[in-house]
Amino acid sequence: MMTNDALLQRRVEAVPAGVATAMPIFADRAENSELWDVEGRRYIDFAGGIAVLNTGHRHPKVISAVEAQLQRFTHTAFQVVAYQPYVELAERLNALAPFSGPARTLLLTTGAEATENAVKIARAATGRSAVITFTGGFHGRTMLTMAMTGKVLPYKRSFGPMAAEVYHLPFPIAHYGVSVEDSLRALNFLFAADVAPARVAAIAIEPVQGEGGFHMAPPESMQALRRICDEHGILLIADEVQSGFARTGKMYGVEHSGIEPDLVAIAKSLGGGFPIAAVTGKAAIMDQVDPGGLGGTYGGSPIGCAAALAVLDVIEEEKLLERANTIGEGLKTRLNSFAASNSLRPIGHIRGPGAMVAFDMLKERGSDAPDGAAAKALTIRARELGLILLSCGIHGETIRLLMPLTASDAIIDEGMDMIEKALAR
Ligand SMILES: Cc1ncc(COP(=O)(O)O)c(C=O)c1O
Repeated sequence: MMTNDALLQRRVEAVPAGVATAMPIFADRAENSELWDVEGRRYIDFAGGIAVLNTGHRHPKVISAVEAQLQRFTHTAFQVVAYQPYVELAERLNALAPFSGPARTLLLTTGAEATENAVKIARAATGRSAVITFTGGFHGRTMLTMAMTGKVLPYKRSFGPMAAEVYHLPFPIAHYGVSVEDSLRALNFLFAADVAPARVAAIAIEPVQGEGGFHMAPPESMQALRRICDEHGILLIADEVQSGFARTGKMYGVEHSGIEPDLVAIAKSLGGGFPIAAVTGKAAIMDQVDPGGLGGTYGGSPIGCAAALAVLDVIEEEKLLERANTIGEGLKTRLNSFAASNSLRPIGHIRGPGAMVAFDMLKERGSDAPDGAAAKALTIRARELGLILLSCGIHGETIRLLMPLTASDAIIDEGMDMIEKALAR
């Protein structure tokens, strides 16, 4: 039998340390919200391949759509010979756009590509170059998105110089002591000290930060950014790579804010486990790029398109927006009882829209002091109990829950029981 340890050894010899893996196990197979390792051990999956599996592992509809596409063709390069699934997916995403008026959609492969292309399009449409993003934000590991990412370790430290003209504002998070006013005041300082607003192409924000710790941008902050963008001709990019496709109880996280972005970067759960990403934007903006300026060999792969079209059907048919809200309420009830229990390690800051739920490990009950070491220890204990669980956050103090929205109540309860057990003092 292949063992996890033997494969780990081979991994160490074959794969650079820069590619980290949270769990010291190797996957053998997976279904919906369960995964089995190569030793036959079963795990409940509360990570969903980092927010990719809102529709679960191998959703039958996604698999059969992909199988049907495999029988026809797998690749032509859309730039060489176009195909219907690309156009159909663009139409579906345009119809779902979280803004009014005509939309266009460009298909790509990864989240970083989506975010980076949103900036390219914003630059082409405005004739400006600067980009403003936020502390704690995560936009990818490519040269531009790394610069946009608001966390030095491990994403930036060794890789400079950073792409020019990327500026950061503090993301408003009350328990870090950063108010909406603080964040907006920093923007005024930025405009006065570093870059004229007339040089700024775009402000890019995650409506709910993912890697940064599942912090939702307060609606008043999103509304203020929209006003400032309109005042100065700056485009607003919503990075929905992690928050999109029903996770927050809406199709896109930005829909909680009451404002409309100009461009949306999407990936992860759109593909239900197959690589596909997109930028959906206002038509007048999207059409400003010269032919050939956008795309990529695999961008909008027919396999990814087939999967994504099935994912959109599943979200609708299985009412996953409502399901996300129901799951989220259940999670919060359970987490609030954990927070109140003296026999469990201290947790707090239970938060998040829909099922984009997270909590923090704290040094003391009722304090704001983050405990990253406790979060790491919790994920290890959870894994020993049979649960795949991810941490995130600026201090690594946050535990985020990313179970498939197709998970049964019984599986979710079983996973939450494991968290409770892992929290025991
Ligand atoms: C908000 C956000 N943007 C962009 C990315 C980058 O996506 P990818 O890893 O597919 O390049 C991520 C990945 O975690 C993300 O969460």
